[in-house]
Amino acid sequence: MFKMLFLIFDKGFFAGSGIKTDCVANLMRLTLDEALAVGNQLEVEAINGTQHILLTPSLAAQCGYSMESDPWGNTRIYTSLLGCYVHNKDDMSFNVGLKLKIYHHGPSDVITHDVAKTCSYTSWATREILCDRNYMEVSTYMAPKYSQTKVKGQKGEDFQLNTITTASEEVHGIWKMTFFTPEPMSLVLEEAQQAGYSAKTTSTRLVVRSPYNMAETYSEDVAGVPMEVMKVSIYHKGQDGLNVFNLAAACPTGGVLFTEDLISWHVPRRVTPLLDGHIRLVEMTMGINGQRLDKAQMAARGYSLSTTDFHIVVEIPVGSSDGYYKSHAPDYQYHMTYSVEPMLEVLWKADQSVDDTRYKILFPITTPPMSRPPNTEDRTTPEEREFNLYVGPFLYDVAVRNITFSTGVLTVEESNARGFIVQQHVLANGTFVFSLKVPFDSNVVSKHNPELLITTYSLSVVFGFVILPEEIPFAHQVELDASVEDVVLPVLTGTCDQEQFYITVKYGSQGNNTNTMVGGLDLTPELAEFYNFKGDATQFSIAVPYAATGSSFELITTNSIRARLDVVVWDPITNWILSDLFLACYFPLMTTRCYPNGTISALAVKVESVPNLNPSWLTLKDQSCSPVFSNDHFAQFIFSADSCGTTRTFFDHYMLYENEIGLYYHGKRGAAHTSPVDPEYKQTVSCYYVVNDTQTIAFNTKSRLYEPKAEIGSGQMSIQMRQATDSSYENFYKAEDYPVEKYLREPLYFEVELALSTDPNLELILDNCWATLQEERTSLPSWDIIVNGCAYSGDNYATVFHTVSMDERVSFPSHYKRFSMKMFAFIQEDKVLKHEVYVHCDLVICDTNSPMEAICQRQCSKPAVKGTQKH
Ligand SMILES: *[C@@H]1O[C@H](CO)[C@@H](O)[C@H](O)[C@H]1NC(C)=O
Ligand SMILES: *[C@@H]1O[C@H](CO)[C@@H](O)[C@H](O)[C@H]1NC(C)=O
Ligand SMILES: *[C@@H]1O[C@H](CO)[C@@H](O)[C@H](O)[C@H]1NC(C)=O
Ligand SMILES: *[C@@H]1O[C@H](CO)[C@@H](O)[C@H](O)[C@H]1NC(C)=O
Ligand SMILES: *[C@@H]1O[C@H](CO)[C@@H](O)[C@H](O)[C@H]1NC(C)=O
Ligand SMILES: *[C@@H]1O[C@H](CO)[C@@H](O)[C@H](O)[C@H]1NC(C)=O
Repeated sequence: MFKMLFLIFDKGFFAGSGIKTDCVANLMRLTLDEALAVGNQLEVEAINGTQHILLTPSLAAQCGYSMESDPWGNTRIYTSLLGCYVHNKDDMSFNVGLKLKIYHHGPSDVITHDVAKTCSYTSWATREILCDRNYMEVSTYMAPKYSQTKVKGQKGEDFQLNTITTASEEVHGIWKMTFFTPEPMSLVLEEAQQAGYSAKTTSTRLVVRSPYNMAETYSEDVAGVPMEVMKVSIYHKGQDGLNVFNLAAACPTGGVLFTEDLISWHVPRRVTPLLDGHIRLVEMTMGINGQRLDKAQMAARGYSLSTTDFHIVVEIPVGSSDGYYKSHAPDYQYHMTYSVEPMLEVLWKADQSVDDTRYKILFPITTPPMSRPPNTEDRTTPEEREFNLYVGPFLYDVAVRNITFSTGVLTVEESNARGFIVQQHVLANGTFVFSLKVPFDSNVVSKHNPELLITTYSLSVVFGFVILPEEIPFAHQVELDASVEDVVLPVLTGTCDQEQFYITVKYGSQGNNTNTMVGGLDLTPELAEFYNFKGDATQFSIAVPYAATGSSFELITTNSIRARLDVVVWDPITNWILSDLFLACYFPLMTTRCYPNGTISALAVKVESVPNLNPSWLTLKDQSCSPVFSNDHFAQFIFSADSCGTTRTFFDHYMLYENEIGLYYHGKRGAAHTSPVDPEYKQTVSCYYVVNDTQTIAFNTKSRLYEPKAEIGSGQMSIQMRQATDSSYENFYKAEDYPVEKYLREPLYFEVELALSTDPNLELILDNCWATLQEERTSLPSWDIIVNGCAYSGDNYATVFHTVSMDERVSFPSHYKRFSMKMFAFIQEDKVLKHEVYVHCDLVICDTNSPMEAICQRQCSKPAVKGTQKH
């Protein structure tokens, strides 16, 4: 049983104007409109003269009071006009006094209101049955004088006033009640009152009242509707003796069918525990909150009242304004109930009598919780870069407590402070929606790129709601995605100087959350440091040496190399390439150096077209000549012009020394690594030595894989050196004459000729001539004859040059040189060796138009004639 202490929940304070009293037929109704603050307590006392009686729930049910509050403090108190403490004047005028005590903040803070209302009600039916929320009441007409054995009744047997003459003379009025369940249970009045029943007589009526669920009442199914039934015989002793009144009340406890939209309340058309015989339904009225409605009012609200064969049916649309919604959250899911309190009044008449029966039911109905999962409306405009979502609708008893973001839980205040704005919006029908705005760029939003230029932002939040005032929690999860083409790609730029590539990466919208690959290698922190990485929040730059591991060589020219560096910036999550740069620059590089002393240095370069080449496998023509140094990119060779298979070719003014760097498949190193299908690698090394001097000019070397270079025309030169028989230089010794025997100091005449040449600009110069004992020109001992183009000055028997003039045989005198010397002998251990002597000469062929070399212009001083003994 509920207590008659009500918790009132609402804002605002009690005010006198919030109390309204009116008379609704056989009830006095008191309405308190949303007039009590949350947490207030209301106590109601009945006033009987000077007496104040606290109406506890059980006393209220016994005495004909009922009270109901909705969750917001709207309270209705019904008082039966036949209830206890009601001042009843001839069953026509009724005076109800109530004292309301509103406890504001506790027992001491109390506001009281005395309410008095006089109602008149004269249209009593013979029998009236009232089904209120907490009790059933039946009253019947009772003649003021019980002189007859019968009173008016619909059915003689049931409504007989039995005269029991044997009853005690001392007791007047009601003295005993016998309940039928259907077994008879008899209680004297005091016992019945103690049990919670109420029975009394007024000037014309006999009233009996019972709370529901009493031991002496019972349930019965009537036309499919469960009902609670009280059948009782009242023993009354009056002046005319003892009378027995048989009374019955029956009130429905069920019979409601629900759909989402409609409440159908079924009441049995014949409430058989009450009625018998031929009766007619003469009047049928529905009402709300105890108040009758006319047809127009019903139509306006969409109510209907109808009958079927077995039932009276009241239909009320769910949501009608006479009721109210309330939030619930079974299983943390949002639900609503709708509550409304219809009233049904029926008047039956017996066919053969004037007896009528009025039947009135106040019947609070609450639907079962109806699931109302909130809708999420996504009103995000991606261009505004902010999620904007609406959740609802909710009833006014719902509040947002907190929001769980991916980073944690925030209260509404914290959320607002962080810029995640939570707002509440009232809809036309009084419900609410909540909105939340979250910027895309906040840390509670996650993002990914479904396409290169598109970012998808995702928000996942859980709203934590509570239902007030009970603080019942429930949650609602929202997941939103929004895509916008907002990706700014990184921008790569690059330049070069003579040694390095300079790369700058300007970050795009992904900032530094990207990976960079330089020349096919990930830019690891170590590599970044090696490349002199410099960066800030918006960009970074690196300097990469042109010969760094990642670069590749595209082309080698005379004095430069074209190297290329590929830089790629990619997204480590999607692996998409965001930006790339292919930077190719020419860097100065001398691949071949020819030194005056005959040393040649050549650099072989690995080019892109031979990707599998390991430079260390390269050799010169002579495969025993390997690089002196090699790495990924280069192999360096240093060799002298007369070694490693170097070939020499004479031109008019030049000597061309050539070698070739290559990968020789038969070589011991390359075989294992290079297959014959690989592109061939050949790099020619050329040195031109201008005959002028040892001064050199190095020409370009090229890999044969690139454009062939034009060759300078080549030819053969033929030199012959002969000994003339005399100073006329007309006759010469022939090959078969050798060895020619000569005496000491006998003159020897030599002529050197540039044969087969018709170039008048060439001049033959004798550079050095010397004599040896052995055929080998470098053998020792040796004796200088001509040194640097001039007669050797340390010789007593000086060498004499002879001018050459044109004659029959000599077309170009400059192509000839003649000299004579005296025969000599080598002395060994003071003995003159009688031995063969070999004479050798080194020659220079000069271009008389451009006598570059010093030796071509040399002037000799007059030979000094000095007597120095030769040994
Ligand atoms: C109400 O007061 C009257 C007289 O003051 C008294 O006779 C009656 O018993 C009281 N009623 C109740 C129910 O206490
Ligand atoms: C209130 O209005 C909203 C929007 O029109 C609607 O979705 C909701 O169902 C209505 N709620 C009630 C309780 O009538
Ligand atoms: C957030 O609100 C929900 C619903 O009111 C509640 O159950 C939960 O405990 C709250 N969480 C925190 C961390 O306050
Ligand atoms: C990326 O940038 C952020 C902020 O600009 C900085 O804190 C972080 O250290 C950077 N990360 C790397 C790997 O450079
Ligand atoms: C030739 O000259 C170069 C350059 O001056 C020098 O490095 C090299 O050692 C010399 N070679 C010989 C064999 O003297
Ligand atoms: C020979 O060498 C000298 C000195 O280097 C130079 O001045 C001259 O031009 C050269 N002659 C030729 C034909 O190259």
